[in-house]
Amino acid sequence: MLLRRLLGRRWKLVLAGGIIIIVILLIGADIFGDRDGKSTIFKRDAIALNFPHLRGMKELDDVDPADRRREDLFYVPPEPRIGPLFHMTDKNDTKFTFRQNPNWKNSTCPRSLQRKAFLSEEFGPIFRPDTQMVINSKLFNVDEYWRMMPWATPFGYKYKENITYEEVRDVLNMFPADDTIFNFTGRSRPQCITCAVIGNGGMLNGSKNGEEIDRHNYIFRVNHALTKGFEEDVGSRTTHYVFYDRSLVGVKADDYPISKDITYIFVPCRKADFSYLKSIAEGRNKFAVPPENVRIVHPDWMRYVHYV
Ligand SMILES: *[C@@H]1O[C@H](CO)[C@@H](O)[C@H](O)[C@H]1NC(C)=O
Ligand SMILES: *[C@@H]1O[C@H](CO)[C@@H](O)[C@H](O)[C@H]1NC(C)=O
Ligand SMILES: *[C@@H]1O[C@H](CO)[C@@H](O)[C@H](O)[C@H]1NC(C)=O
Ligand SMILES: *[C@@H]1O[C@H](CO)[C@@H](O)[C@H](O)[C@H]1NC(C)=O
Ligand SMILES: *[C@@H]1O[C@H](CO)[C@@H](O)[C@H](O)[C@H]1NC(C)=O
Repeated sequence: MLLRRLLGRRWKLVLAGGIIIIVILLIGADIFGDRDGKSTIFKRDAIALNFPHLRGMKELDDVDPADRRREDLFYVPPEPRIGPLFHMTDKNDTKFTFRQNPNWKNSTCPRSLQRKAFLSEEFGPIFRPDTQMVINSKLFNVDEYWRMMPWATPFGYKYKENITYEEVRDVLNMFPADDTIFNFTGRSRPQCITCAVIGNGGMLNGSKNGEEIDRHNYIFRVNHALTKGFEEDVGSRTTHYVFYDRSLVGVKADDYPISKDITYIFVPCRKADFSYLKSIAEGRNKFAVPPENVRIVHPDWMRYVHYV
């Protein structure tokens, strides 16, 4: 019983970690670049250790000069719309069928991790950053509900007591119909972006990496991410905060960052999470984040990350 509870908790933490890594791949972040010529936390070789799948990557130093534009008029996000389905692998199993984001645009950064992933012999063929990552009211309807229904939450809506169409619909209606976790709307973004993904395991204790972490464009933190009192080692800025309700049980109100400048990425993992989201939208939750900053992860995307 205890073992089951421990494992149950662990796989979700692992999943949360996976999500962040995929987020980084998706936005084409250049976590290995040395911006401003300053040292980086991650050395180039680290990739082989942490991403054995990426070992087959080709070198990217010979880049087409046409790709070296400094600025890129990115993405003025179009209205979210339901894209086509695509099938991963030739397996005849709808578990490997995913919704494609028709608004997706690849990174144009010549040395992005995303580009490396595409070029990887092993990872490239299964790397689909255009999988729909965020779900919202415009990307949900009765047909979508029944398509995703058969998979256990968070991959769909099957649960001990099934999550109903109405429950999902009502919650999605309370949050923005935005299908991205970034807000580049209407302005140009740097062609290359750098990110810091900060875990909570304690290895940064005494690292004095805080300043460097804070220099990145985007800083991702997850679950019980303490920064207060540890700024010198872990930094103080947060731009994206990935969480699910049980990860915040027992967390004191000022242990997590609450700000209009942070995008909160929620992973619904069980039926009760939908009433949890409702309480956030209605301002009844102690986790008093601005509801307009909350994004909800798409079940297809969770399934893609998990199975592919
Ligand atoms: C996939 O499975 C379904 C149902 O078992 C079957 O009708 C269909 O022909 C299969 N498709 C392929 C491509 O094998
Ligand atoms: C993104 O790049 C990959 C690899 O080059 C390509 O297969 C895919 O079609 C591109 N997607 C878009 C939306 O441009
Ligand atoms: C949940 O949905 C599945 C698939 O539609 C169905 O087989 C199952 O009986 C439902 N379970 C409950 C408790 O309603
Ligand atoms: C950080 O490391 C120091 C020295 O090893 C130790 O005393 C302290 O308890 C650690 N802090 C945390 C939060 O683990
Ligand atoms: C959106 O972008 C603006 C301008 O860079 C920034 O100040 C703001 O904090 C961002 N909002 C969110 C929720 O990330």
